[in-house]
Amino acid sequence: MNILAIESSCDETAVAVVCDGRKALSDEVLSQADMHAIYGGVVPEIASRNHITVISRLADSAIAKAGLKKCDIDAVAVTYAPGLIGALLVGVNFAKAAALALGVPLIPVHHVRGHIAANYLAFPELEPPFLCLAISGGNTIIVDVRGYTDMSIIGSTHDDAAGECFDKAARVLGLPYPGGRPMQELAEGGDDTAYKLPNAKIEGHPYDMSFSGLKTAVVNIAHNAADRGETIDRAGLAASFQRAVSEALVPRTMAAARELGYDKIVVAGGVAANKRVRADFEAACAAEGKRLFVPPLRLCGDNGAMIGAQGYYEFLAGKRAGSELNAYATMEIDAPGV
Ligand code: KG4
Repeated sequence: MNILAIESSCDETAVAVVCDGRKALSDEVLSQADMHAIYGGVVPEIASRNHITVISRLADSAIAKAGLKKCDIDAVAVTYAPGLIGALLVGVNFAKAAALALGVPLIPVHHVRGHIAANYLAFPELEPPFLCLAISGGNTIIVDVRGYTDMSIIGSTHDDAAGECFDKAARVLGLPYPGGRPMQELAEGGDDTAYKLPNAKIEGHPYDMSFSGLKTAVVNIAHNAADRGETIDRAGLAASFQRAVSEALVPRTMAAARELGYDKIVVAGGVAANKRVRADFEAACAAEGKRLFVPPLRLCGDNGAMIGAQGYYEFLAGKRAGSELNAYATMEIDAPGV
């Protein structure tokens, strides 16, 4: 089954063709990051306008690069939540028109479910059940994945997402948007004990997280030093920050896996590209004899292939939409009817 998959929830316009949920025949991703960098973050209106400009061309290119014709497409899958509403609506409306014109089913896909499914493309042997940490620019959740479309959140951030925290900390250090990768590069060679940073715990919710205190701590260190005319150890601060993020994520995920009895740990989303987080998960999983699945870097960030992978399993579970399909800025991964 060939699924044409569309993703436009933030600042990547992405279209892919995925066969049977496991094989990306093509995966076109056009990032707008450079256009937003001068503003220090994504400008929703600019994102929507640019999605409109390129989405049709990308879809043609994805089908051609898959070696297929339009008549070979069996269904259209699209990210409908969560994300920037105007940006999502571009993909949703394009997908509706494509499904109608091709006479094939339309499958709505939750963006974070897509991030998890990126792992099905990378690891043919991976099947639920497993425990997943989904860490991206907008979401940070620990998910009990019982089945391809049966999952529930068992821990989440109470404020900023991990990626958002990376982006804001990077900004005060004068690094470009998106800040995750530049932060990682600055941290290389830095002393990760140079600064003592907070690791917030949420009373009574061992798997929940909070990153706003960490973000504020980095902002205060940078601003206080500037006020006093002192220079900061930028590499040390970046390394200490990365360590603090990893120490918030990895032990909680491992503890949740122990409690739920999972021996497979899956990591997904843009922050899964982070070297420190990957290394700490590798060490923790090796120490506890658990299997770790983390996508290759190109599948960590937003892409269309992951939507096609999850779209296949949503289709098998009977999920369909018609021309009434709407987009939603927020939606939990385990909300009724997702
Ligand atoms: O999954 P993604 O592409 O978009 C969302 O669905 O949100 O994630 C984007 C986030 C950004 O916050 C970016 O700074 C972060 O992922 N990111 C990283 C790295 N690469 C991307 N964070 C830490 N280390 C990285 N190497």
